[in-house]
Amino acid sequence: MKNTVSAFMSAKQSKKKISMVTAYDYSMAKLVSESGIDSILVGDSLGNVILGYDDTISVTMEDMIHHSKAVSRGAGNCLVIADMPFMSYQTSVYDAMVNAGRLMKEGRAGAVKLEGGKSVCPQIKAITDAGIPVMAHLGLTPQSVNAFGGYKVQGKTEESAKRLIDDAFAVQDAGAFGVVLECVPSELAEFITELIEIPTIGIGAGSGCDGQVLVNQDMLGMFNDYVPKFVKQFANVGEIIKNSFKVYDTEVKNGTYPEEKHGYGIDKSIMKNLRETYARKD
Ligand code: KIV
Repeated sequence: MKNTVSAFMSAKQSKKKISMVTAYDYSMAKLVSESGIDSILVGDSLGNVILGYDDTISVTMEDMIHHSKAVSRGAGNCLVIADMPFMSYQTSVYDAMVNAGRLMKEGRAGAVKLEGGKSVCPQIKAITDAGIPVMAHLGLTPQSVNAFGGYKVQGKTEESAKRLIDDAFAVQDAGAFGVVLECVPSELAEFITELIEIPTIGIGAGSGCDGQVLVNQDMLGMFNDYVPKFVKQFANVGEIIKNSFKVYDTEVKNGTYPEEKHGYGIDKSIMKNLRETYARKD
């Protein structure tokens, strides 16, 4: 059955954990959907793992639409959530609505995600009022890396923990159907999960959240530029890929690939005629 926003709410009510992973293309989305994972996030982390930027700041609406379209075609029953990139919603409620609409109409996403608490609640309310489900994102919000002065755990002091709790209530009241908690102390994330009614999806926020999300290149061991503490590498796909490329390289260079079975035949008489026609006459 197709996963929807209401499935997220029922999962929280029945204490069933929600699984989510990022994907950025059709073939990975198909693999995710065939695995039984509930939801795919087309994260603006594509700036790091696909486009090779140091952060997510340079990711554009065009990037997000392009990848969201591809993911949506392979996502099967997964709920596809597309990230709203930096400055596509902070500038005004109007911009937020236009851009959320584009991610749904052109990107074929089933929901959008945006970063921030109280300050973006007018945007969350307007987008949800327009019939577009919104997931919020609190804690370490990577689009604010320059304001934070680096990728740091959030909510460690009483004051900042209270701010996080207030923000969680605020995004819920504005209409968000869920909230990502990134790099938040585990006990605080569990406390927020108990306090609010909408599901919390943790990344670096412990096991007390209603669900978990990871960047697929991180969990598959395909991206080693920086591996955060919270990442578990469930496989070393990077090594498998590298070794396969090495074998291919060797076989191409020593002539063992391709073999006869990898080629296509042609009638022998045609080749004989061609050889006679093009025989050198010197
Ligand atoms: O962009 C992304 O992949 C994200 C997750 C880290 C939650 O926002």
